[in-house]
Amino acid sequence: MTKILAIETSCDETAAAVIVDGRTIASNVVASQIELHRRFGGVFPEVASRQHVLSIEPVIQQALEQAGLDHVAGLDAVAVTYGPGLAGSLLVGVNAAKGLVFASGLPLLPINHLEGHIYSNWIVPANAQTPPAVDRFPALVLIVSGGHTELFLMLGHGRYRRIGGTLDDAAGEAFDKVARLLELGFPGGPAIQRAAAQGDATRFPLPHPLMRRGEHRFNFSFSGLKTAVLNLTRQLQQEGMNPTGTQVAADIAASFQKVVAEVLVSKTVDAAREFGAHQVCICGGVSANAELRSLAQAACDEAGLPLYIPPLFLCTDNAAMIGAAAYYRLQNDPNAVGDLGLDVHANLPLAEVP
Ligand code: KG4
Ligand code: ZN
Repeated sequence: MTKILAIETSCDETAAAVIVDGRTIASNVVASQIELHRRFGGVFPEVASRQHVLSIEPVIQQALEQAGLDHVAGLDAVAVTYGPGLAGSLLVGVNAAKGLVFASGLPLLPINHLEGHIYSNWIVPANAQTPPAVDRFPALVLIVSGGHTELFLMLGHGRYRRIGGTLDDAAGEAFDKVARLLELGFPGGPAIQRAAAQGDATRFPLPHPLMRRGEHRFNFSFSGLKTAVLNLTRQLQQEGMNPTGTQVAADIAASFQKVVAEVLVSKTVDAAREFGAHQVCICGGVSANAELRSLAQAACDEAGLPLYIPPLFLCTDNAAMIGAAAYYRLQNDPNAVGDLGLDVHANLPLAEVP
C-alpha cells in the first residue's frame, strides 16, 4: 500500500490530501479563498499567497488527522504542485513540502497541476455515481479550467501529446469575464450556470469561434466570444435594455454557456475520432459545468466513446488529484523523485513524449 501526502496551492485553494495507491481518498481538505477574492471580482495574487501562508499548516494537519495518521509516520512520499500557477502561491506549497521532506527523509514528488487535473479521472471516490477512468489508451483528454483549455492525447501513464489548445483566453477565464460583464458574481462559472438555468439560449445567438477545418481545427479561441457578448450588451443598452443582473443577462448567459459547451465538445469528439482514442476524459474547473457534462455525454454516447468526467468536488482545484498523479508518476517514471533544490514554474508546460 502506497500512501502519498499531496499539497496543492497553485491558485486560490489551499489543499492537502492523503491518497492510497493512487485511486483511494484517505483524506481531502480544501480551504477555499473564494470569499476573500469576491470583492476584487477575481483572484488577487498577493492576497492569495498570504492566505496560503496562514492556511497551509492547519490544512496539512487536518489531512493527516483525517487519514488517521500521526504526522508523517506511515507516509511513503510527499507530492506537491510546482507549476503552472501563481508563483507566490506555488511557493507556499513547495516550501511546506520541502520542510516535511527535509524533516522526514520521505521522497519528494514534484507534480504538474495539469497532470493532476487529468488524474482526477482516475480517483475512485466513496459512493461514486460514475466509475473512474481505466487504463485504456490512447485517451483523448480535455483540460478545461480557469487558466487552461488544452487537448492532449494520452498515450499511456504520464505520456502526452498536445493536440491543441486556446489561442487566447481559457474557457474558465471567459466564464469569469462574461459573468463580470453581466454582473452575475464571482466565480463566474457557477454564476453563469445559475443564471443560464433561468435563461433562453436561443434569444441572443452568439458566434461559434474557430470552428473551421485545417491547421486550427483543434485550437480554441474565446476572446472573440467575450467581445461579442460585450458588443451585444452595449447594443442592448443603446436600445434601452438593462443587460446586467436581469432576465436579459440570464438569456445571454444561457447562449454563451451553450456556445462554449458546444465548441468544447465538438472539437474534443472530433479529435478523439481522428486520433483513434479509446476513451475521452474531461477535467478541470469548467468540467463541473452541467451543460458541458450533458452535451459531452450525448456526443460521446453517439460516437460510441466511453466518457469520464470527475465528480464535482474533484473538478475544481484539490490535492487528491495531485496525489493520484504522483502515484502514477512514482510507478512509471524513473525520474519522478525531486530534490530540495525544487523551484516553482509559473508557466510549466505538460511535458510531451518525443
Ligand atoms: O481548475 P480550477 O479550479 O482552477 C484552475 O486551475 O484554473 O478552475 C477554475 C475555473 C474558474 O474559471 C471557474 O469559473 C470555472 O473553473 N468553473 C466553472 C464551473 N465551476 C467552476 N465554469 C463553468 N461552470 C461551472 N459550474
Ligand atoms: Zn486547476
